[in-house]
Amino acid sequence: MKKVMMLSGMLFGVALFGTTAVEAGRLVNEPDSAYLLAYSTTKNNGKNGLHFAWSRDRQKWHSIGNEFGFVKSDYGNWGNQKRMVTPYLVKGADGAWQCVWGLNEQELVFAHAASPDLVYWGRQSYPMVQAGKNVLRPVVQYDKNAATYHITYTDASGKYYRVTTKNFKTYTPAVEVPAAQYKNNSQTIALPGGDATGQVHRVAWADVDRLQKTYELKQYKNSQYSERTEQDAQRFAGLKPVEAKITVAAAKAKPISDLLVGVFFEDLNYAADGGLYAELVQNRGFEYKPSDKKGHDKSWTSTHSWTLKGDKGTFAIDSVAPVHPNNPHYAVLHTTAPGAALVNTGFDGIAVKKGERYNFSVMAKQLEGKNGKLQVRLVSEKEGVLAKATVNASPGSWKTLHASLVPATTASDARLELEPLAAGRLALDMVSLFPQNTFKGRKNGLRADLAQTIADLQPRFVRFPGGCVAHGDGIGNIYHWKNTIGPLEARKPQRNLWGYHQSMGLGYFEYFQFCEDIGAAPVPVVAAGVPCQNSSDGGGGQQGGIPMDQMDEYVQDILDLVEYANGSVNTKWGKKRAEAGHPKPFNLKYIGVGNEDLITDVFEERFAMIQKALNEKYPEITVIGTVGPFSEGTDYVEGWELATQLDVPMVDEHYYQPPGWFIHNQDYYDRYDRSKAKVYLGEYAAHLPGRPNNLETALAEALYLTSVERNGDVVHMTSYAPLLAKEGHTQWNPDMIYFNNTEVKPTVGYEVQKLFGRNSGDEYLPSTVSLDNNQEAVSKRVAVSVVRDSKTNDVIVKMVNLLPVPVNSNLDLKALGTTGTSAVKTTLQGKPGDRKLQPVETDVAVSELAQTELPAYSCTVIRVKGN
Ligand code: AHR
Repeated sequence: MKKVMMLSGMLFGVALFGTTAVEAGRLVNEPDSAYLLAYSTTKNNGKNGLHFAWSRDRQKWHSIGNEFGFVKSDYGNWGNQKRMVTPYLVKGADGAWQCVWGLNEQELVFAHAASPDLVYWGRQSYPMVQAGKNVLRPVVQYDKNAATYHITYTDASGKYYRVTTKNFKTYTPAVEVPAAQYKNNSQTIALPGGDATGQVHRVAWADVDRLQKTYELKQYKNSQYSERTEQDAQRFAGLKPVEAKITVAAAKAKPISDLLVGVFFEDLNYAADGGLYAELVQNRGFEYKPSDKKGHDKSWTSTHSWTLKGDKGTFAIDSVAPVHPNNPHYAVLHTTAPGAALVNTGFDGIAVKKGERYNFSVMAKQLEGKNGKLQVRLVSEKEGVLAKATVNASPGSWKTLHASLVPATTASDARLELEPLAAGRLALDMVSLFPQNTFKGRKNGLRADLAQTIADLQPRFVRFPGGCVAHGDGIGNIYHWKNTIGPLEARKPQRNLWGYHQSMGLGYFEYFQFCEDIGAAPVPVVAAGVPCQNSSDGGGGQQGGIPMDQMDEYVQDILDLVEYANGSVNTKWGKKRAEAGHPKPFNLKYIGVGNEDLITDVFEERFAMIQKALNEKYPEITVIGTVGPFSEGTDYVEGWELATQLDVPMVDEHYYQPPGWFIHNQDYYDRYDRSKAKVYLGEYAAHLPGRPNNLETALAEALYLTSVERNGDVVHMTSYAPLLAKEGHTQWNPDMIYFNNTEVKPTVGYEVQKLFGRNSGDEYLPSTVSLDNNQEAVSKRVAVSVVRDSKTNDVIVKMVNLLPVPVNSNLDLKALGTTGTSAVKTTLQGKPGDRKLQPVETDVAVSELAQTELPAYSCTVIRVKGN
């Protein structure tokens, strides 16, 4: 893969400028070598990476790209980390370039990366050192005689320290050295954009040329990727409707994955608590704490969403005798006379429907008083009391009390009031209100309308619980599935790295149950023993991963997950599944290990351990590896190389790209080596500035999905990301489905996913599209994919037109290989900026399909019914 990228960079010179231009380049008498300055700047808080400038005579310098980063630091969070401070570049014995740099002014850590050619940079490492106050201005020197690299740094107190290494993997402990041993050869050079400080090397002209071409290729690609429909009037001025002749080679059908379209659920944007999880009480366990938001919000405490109404009582949080150690806080309501009530305002209010039943429950203990009667009311500001019931708390141990409430009126602004009917003290915890009408009527279930909207996509799998949530912000924030099963009060809530709280009410059992309920394969993702590289909690980046002496336990947890999902009821974890109400196995076949992690030695060691253990104990489970957060670059290359080396059967690719990227990369998977791992495109979406989900982004995704179907022999699964977003609580845009407490608002992108999800097949019928217009900009915006669903024998033709004019498709019906006579045609069309569109479905006779107009900016799906 690395070679492919380098080759394409070299070929670019020929492709973009033509052979003559390259030869002309030689004629201008290029030097055989030049001076190269390697430097970084403090712009963008030092995050712009390693820059180069060249000079023939050390007088006149030329920057290669303005602030263009040939390698960027990937240490720590996006906010104030990812800095490359004073990089220091040397050429080592083997000709490879070695670069070290400082990361920040606080930590005892520096960074290293190496490159064979200054263009491709290998994995980064962040060695920790034990001496000094911090690591400032590290320099690296190669000692030829000892075949050793010395990394010498200074610190805040002006002392000097050194570590040595032969391989940049293991280092000697840092020792203090005299100042004279710190040799920093950096020079300050006047560049066109201002002074820059770095190291000057004499390099072959070919090296400079390669750097320049890399930069130019990037610019060229960026200009392609920034193509938008708003330029279409100009780009396609005078364009006439296009004629398309579509020929299908049904006889050359190839099998493709029947799991191509699924969903990726992450508790982001209030997708779980306050979203899909149907619980209506917010902070039911009184477990919110300021650290859920990293201490930024002082109101984010155990009392969040709770208030005391009336002046005849007090409300305090206690933790002396909790319902469970994992749920240490509870409320103590002290009432001097009836009239005081503890009030929960839900997630932006509680929405209830007239005549529907709501199940109330509370864990309670009467601490003092004559009786423990507690009136429970649903009260609307506008409508008054909607429903009420009474429960009885008693002294002694915690008991769960139940009541059911049936509102007399529909309201979206209800709150839940708990009013003791006698003076005394009541301890209350796990205060819960669930609609009885959850999805499929499940207890502790999911919000019916939201779950149904997901089910309507007919997703073939569900990936959960993240995303970043799966690997967490710091080791302490890694998602552990065992914390999310069993009685609700025994589950271990956790800070959600998206800045809120996870009650874990929606836990692994509920995820598995949901998958089964919608006929989707479960695809859990566990951390690969490392937290997110963007972590900031407890240090920066991957922080060394889970310590090796704890890895056996962590690996065992993952093995136990398989037992929980698939083991017999006589096994330890299978028994727990049965106790939760599901003796039958959940038929788990896939486990994702890692989430777009930085591919480091720390990652590799832990990933390999987990994969080995899974392979040995559960060879039937497909391990899904990870190849970084982008469609190219170091993690992608290193991730793929590692997967190939370890024989990982499938890898998870992620890329969020502009629509232009999707338009210009429809051959992305055509080039993939079929003998290597299969692909799970686990996160993707087309991103426009402002991040709307509109017809333009949706059609770019549709266009791309036709190419994914064509490559359904190597791409096994795909999932748009993210899935859900609650209005007013959205940390990430665009999303597939927006919602509030009363409405579900599927996007145009959702409609595309639904068209592909409901019209998937398991055989791909190759087709060719010939247009009467041979402009590349035109042909790249018309795409066709034909599949057959062997279960129904239906043949499905998907046609996407991202042009501002109609395309008249001429379809050779005989070549479709079906004798079906009736079809359903579904068309999604509109203006590129449309955010709300509904596809239109019509029944058509197959004979009418020989000629079909594909409207401007449209996606058309024709499903020819099999016999
Ligand atoms: O989908 C949103 C986030 O994007 C995911 O949590 C993460 O994996 C990716 O960076």
